[in-house]
Amino acid sequence: MDDRSSMQASSRQSAPQFSPLLPAGVAAVESTTTVSDATLTVTERALIASAVPDRVREFATGRWCARHALSKLGIVGFSLLADQSRAPIWPEGIVGSITHVNGFCAAVVGRTDEFAGIGIDAEHESCVTANLWPHLFTAEERAWLVQLPDEQRHRMAALLFSAKESFYKCQYQFAKEWLDFTSVRVIVEGDRWRVSPASTGSLDWIRDSFSGRFAFANQRVHTSLVVRAAR
Ligand SMILES: CC(C)(COP(=O)(O)OP(=O)(O)OC[C@H]1O[C@@H](n2cnc3c(N)ncnc32)[C@H](O)[C@@H]1OP(=O)(O)O)[C@@H](O)C(=O)NCCC(=O)NCCS
Repeated sequence: MDDRSSMQASSRQSAPQFSPLLPAGVAAVESTTTVSDATLTVTERALIASAVPDRVREFATGRWCARHALSKLGIVGFSLLADQSRAPIWPEGIVGSITHVNGFCAAVVGRTDEFAGIGIDAEHESCVTANLWPHLFTAEERAWLVQLPDEQRHRMAALLFSAKESFYKCQYQFAKEWLDFTSVRVIVEGDRWRVSPASTGSLDWIRDSFSGRFAFANQRVHTSLVVRAAR
């Protein structure tokens, strides 16, 4: 790490959104500003060689957060490449997740002897308009949203959407499923959410349901899902 990125590291690791939503053993790093592609390794830069500048900055900031999160686990000098689905290829023995939304980026990592998968997601509270509901939500989820007070409805729609994105990223690390949004159902219970198959006979590897965390801050919703490794 050069001097400039050392300074960035300390300034960007303040005011954490995800740490309170994660168990001990998961390292998280967040940034509210973007970094340049100069922070990428040669092989990482090759992944976004033809991308537009905004995407390059988004990608570089995610890699920057991931690099600093990995360093908290003692892993340095690693190029974080991606598979064909865009999923990060974490170092051997590591699982993790990256999210970015305008003005915010985060990466989290943990060890595979403790965790089978980790998913995080951040979305703006107003990201899901009602015309998207049929594509994103089951009939049961839509019925729940409709009966909410007006001022809560769009925030809760963003929460359901973000929870599904967190679940998708998390399960991809151990189940590698491509999932339709309406193939799973999310239920909000207090400060947690629970995801389960939307219908019986599908997604049989979900033996029970998975329970995630969420919090609203800075006009965003932040969701996390951590699945522990089988002992
Ligand atoms: C891939 C996807 C989940 C990304 O979510 P998003 O809200 O658009 O964007 P975010 O910034 O939060 O996350 C993007 C990051 O997710 C990670 N990611 C992408 N594909 C992934 C996958 N298959 N598994 C795990 N992580 C993945 C990447 O790190 C990516 O950032 P990067 O390309 O800069 O490295 C989303 O675009 C997508 O394709 N969804 C369709 C599948 C789905 O979610 N189905 C519903 C499940 S119930």
